[in-house]
Amino acid sequence: RMVTKKSHLIGVLVPDISNPFFAQLFLGIQDILNQQEYVALLYNMGADEQQEGHYVEDLIRRGVDGLIIASSAFSDQSIYQALQAQNLPMIVMDQKTETDLVDAVQTDNFDGGKQAALHLKTLGHRKVAVVLPQNATVNVRRRYEGFASVYPDAVVIDGELSTAGGQAATPAILATDVTAIFAINDLIAFGLYEGLKEAGKEIPVDYSVIGFDDIGPCQYVTPALTTIAQPTFTLGQAAAKMLLQRLHRPEQQAKEKILPVKLVQRFSTAPLK
Ligand code: RIB
Repeated sequence: RMVTKKSHLIGVLVPDISNPFFAQLFLGIQDILNQQEYVALLYNMGADEQQEGHYVEDLIRRGVDGLIIASSAFSDQSIYQALQAQNLPMIVMDQKTETDLVDAVQTDNFDGGKQAALHLKTLGHRKVAVVLPQNATVNVRRRYEGFASVYPDAVVIDGELSTAGGQAATPAILATDVTAIFAINDLIAFGLYEGLKEAGKEIPVDYSVIGFDDIGPCQYVTPALTTIAQPTFTLGQAAAKMLLQRLHRPEQQAKEKILPVKLVQRFSTAPLK
């Protein structure tokens, strides 16, 4: 007989809660779960894959009804383990790549990268750089691929998905002759702001900078950051809705949903002089 007792707990796994993107995503998830009287348990996975085993055991022990996984540190092996242990319904999203086994919701990362490139191209930039982590997750790599579909010769510069990553990438930018930079997330863009300021450079006079995400601070930095907006709150809501549907209809085929992104033009990008 199937166990029908419900805990009404949903485990949510993110890679970096200090990034406002994941805070906003969580708010969207919680918004839907709370309406349905579910409670979200937030786990910050970080990059530490060794912790993963503990998290999986803990989630199973607490008897969560389902999982929403945005962290790549949660491996496919753990997914199989959780599926086998309790046949736990789950949604994978953002930094966690789709598997055929479970439902997925993503934003159109390739198109976002392409839109960023087309914006810079329209402004007349010919020499451009992209800052992204060397071993980027699939969602982030798709942004690069979209960008490279317009600018195949873009200079690729290594930088972690953080302000520190953007700042550390600055010397490599200064060593090139690019006039525009695609920061693969907004935190990298903010780090570039700092690094370029220290080097006496001005945005957008010396460099145009475009980010990705549209986190809250984008409109408060100077100049306000032009970026590719993800529908982050809606994305969280979509993940939670999908999971609740799955809980009610466990036998349905795994689905994939893709949400659009859009260019938000502010003041960090300008025509090539
Ligand atoms: O800002 C963090 C980045 O990691 C976002 O772009 C989000 O999509 C995630 O992958």
